[in-house]
Amino acid sequence: MVPLLVLCLLSPLLVASVDPPLKCQQGTEGSEVSDCASGLNACVVIKDESTMFGVKFTTTFYTCGKNDSCANAFTITIGDGKHLRSSSACCTEDGCNKNLDWGILPTTWTQNGYICPTGCYAQTEEKCKGGPVSCTDVASADTSVLKCVQGAEVSNASDCVSGLDACVLIRDQSTMLGTEFDTTTYSCGKSDSCVNAYNITIGKEKHLRSSSACCTEDGCNAKLNWTSLQAPWTENGLTCPKGCYAQTEKECTDGPVLCTDGQRNCITVEGSSGAKTFVLHGCGTSNMCGVENYALTIGGIPYNIKTITCVPAA
Ligand SMILES: *[C@@H]1O[C@H](CO)[C@@H](O)[C@H](O)[C@H]1NC(C)=O
Ligand SMILES: *[C@@H]1O[C@H](CO)[C@@H](O)[C@H](O)[C@H]1NC(C)=O
Ligand SMILES: *[C@@H]1O[C@H](CO)[C@@H](O)[C@H](O)[C@H]1NC(C)=O
Ligand SMILES: *[C@@H]1O[C@H](CO)[C@@H](O)[C@H](O)[C@H]1NC(C)=O
Repeated sequence: MVPLLVLCLLSPLLVASVDPPLKCQQGTEGSEVSDCASGLNACVVIKDESTMFGVKFTTTFYTCGKNDSCANAFTITIGDGKHLRSSSACCTEDGCNKNLDWGILPTTWTQNGYICPTGCYAQTEEKCKGGPVSCTDVASADTSVLKCVQGAEVSNASDCVSGLDACVLIRDQSTMLGTEFDTTTYSCGKSDSCVNAYNITIGKEKHLRSSSACCTEDGCNAKLNWTSLQAPWTENGLTCPKGCYAQTEKECTDGPVLCTDGQRNCITVEGSSGAKTFVLHGCGTSNMCGVENYALTIGGIPYNIKTITCVPAA
């Protein structure tokens, strides 16, 4: 009797393990209900609505899926008025997706302030090309992107890259390359690296001074004022072993250099402008040490500062 009892107790488990496959409607509207492949445990309906090609397409598709990958809704924007939205619903009874009904989420496609550099679609394996695209919808925790005047002249403010929280005005005056340059640059920056004024000496009569002002309201840098420094370049008795500038990745080695005014550090600055890079050694003010996200115009070319390192001048 004992073996039979064991068999009776086990039988529901045996039956469960060879469950018949789930049946779902599969294909387009009105298609047949048929067996799902093993491992798929949900009946799904997917509604896609697309205006990506100028014309509006609405598609409903029935399929088998997995209950854990049953996404509710997502949206994509590839350009002005060019969107795709998809929403899906699941259920787990045979044929249940035949009558599954849900509303496609209403959306106003309101621009949310974020920008992606490329928005495009191509039915080829080549990369597609498209201009910047303004993202829409789904208010994120921080929807406000600061807008600042950017470039060499006052113009309409445009969106800053996320993470930059200050509008900046930078004036660079340089005699480092023999000729005198005086440049004004508007940009986005970080408020914690907003230096007021700094200066560098790389040799006799070879100086650079930069002064900047920041503010944090949209477009505020159009009206920023700063004090143009007129301080004389008086030697202060300190020296740095190297004073040079090179527009290459190689080291430059001229020097030593006599520091002037408030310069108490021997400074190394590395920066780039597209493929161009530069390295600079000289005397610098201590407020330059560790500065990041700063633009510096040298010889009329705007560079991004990569690193600034300092050691005390002797
Ligand atoms: C999905 O199905 C598995 C197995 O049937 C079940 O254990 C799990 O709880 C289900 N998950 C959801 C989110 O329904
Ligand atoms: C700046 O914005 C105004 C108003 O939106 C527009 O009329 C003007 O053409 C814009 N100027 C530039 C330089 O883009
Ligand atoms: C150099 O920068 C320092 C620190 O900001 C400033 O006090 C000084 O006046 C500047 N010197 C010159 C010559 O511009
Ligand atoms: C900028 O300077 C001008 C002229 O010196 C002055 O009239 C204006 O009020 C200043 N603006 C700010 C924001 O300080």
